[in-house]
Amino acid sequence: MEKITRRQFIVKSSMIAGGTIGSMAFGSELLYPQKARASEVAFPESSCGPQKSSNKKILIAYASFCGTTGGVAEAIGQVLCEKGAAVDVRLVKNIHDISIYDAAVIGSAVRSSSWWPEAVEFVKRNQETFHRIPVAYFLTCLALYNHNEGSRKVARSYMDPVLKAAPSVQPVDMGLFCGVLDYSKLSFMYRTVMKSKMKKQGVPEGDFRDWNAIRAWAKNLQAPLIGSSERER
Ligand SMILES: Cc1cc2nc3c(=O)[nH]c(=O)nc-3n(C[C@H](O)[C@H](O)[C@H](O)COP(=O)(O)O)c2cc1C
Repeated sequence: MEKITRRQFIVKSSMIAGGTIGSMAFGSELLYPQKARASEVAFPESSCGPQKSSNKKILIAYASFCGTTGGVAEAIGQVLCEKGAAVDVRLVKNIHDISIYDAAVIGSAVRSSSWWPEAVEFVKRNQETFHRIPVAYFLTCLALYNHNEGSRKVARSYMDPVLKAAPSVQPVDMGLFCGVLDYSKLSFMYRTVMKSKMKKQGVPEGDFRDWNAIRAWAKNLQAPLIGSSERER
């Protein structure tokens, strides 16, 4: 066996230890993407509106990485409640029975130019039901930080994977909204990648959700999702 000096032994041992710790940290982030965000991230779920059988029941389903798309989902839900519907806001992974809903609004944060895979999968899995009831889609992304025709085109293209995965579902409308960039919610690996990407694109850290635009879009969903029989406000 090759003899090594004490100094070589220390250098080699530290390299092996460093490599092991590094691969454990990054490996677990890659294997378990939920570990890629900070632990304090919250994903809001709520219900509002009259829970009477005569009222339309609407599902607002969303997928999110850092939780902020949940705020958009709740704002949309609030508007539809004010219009007389009974609304449940839920994370897609917690939804088991969609048969109780008369309509649905489904949205997701964008990751790598698409809705989160779990949101696409949710629509694909339930497309038979979503084909029969009115459905609207929305997304949050950072491409819309720059407001112009090109960025809207890019944001609109983020819907292509879900439209392709469930072609029988024809959304009555698609809401494209700017989202949030909050590095404190990302793990070291994602923070490093996003910082370099966002710097190149000139996107600063911040909350870019336009609540007026989000509420205005939700108001326009009243007619297709609830119909004219519910109370006007
Ligand atoms: C890992 C990662 C990948 C992302 N990829 C894109 C992308 O391809 N295009 C884009 O416009 N925004 C992208 N974003 C921005 C998010 O869509 C945006 O920050 C969103 O508001 C996050 O919502 P959330 O807090 O619900 O996860 C990405 C964000 C992260 C963390």
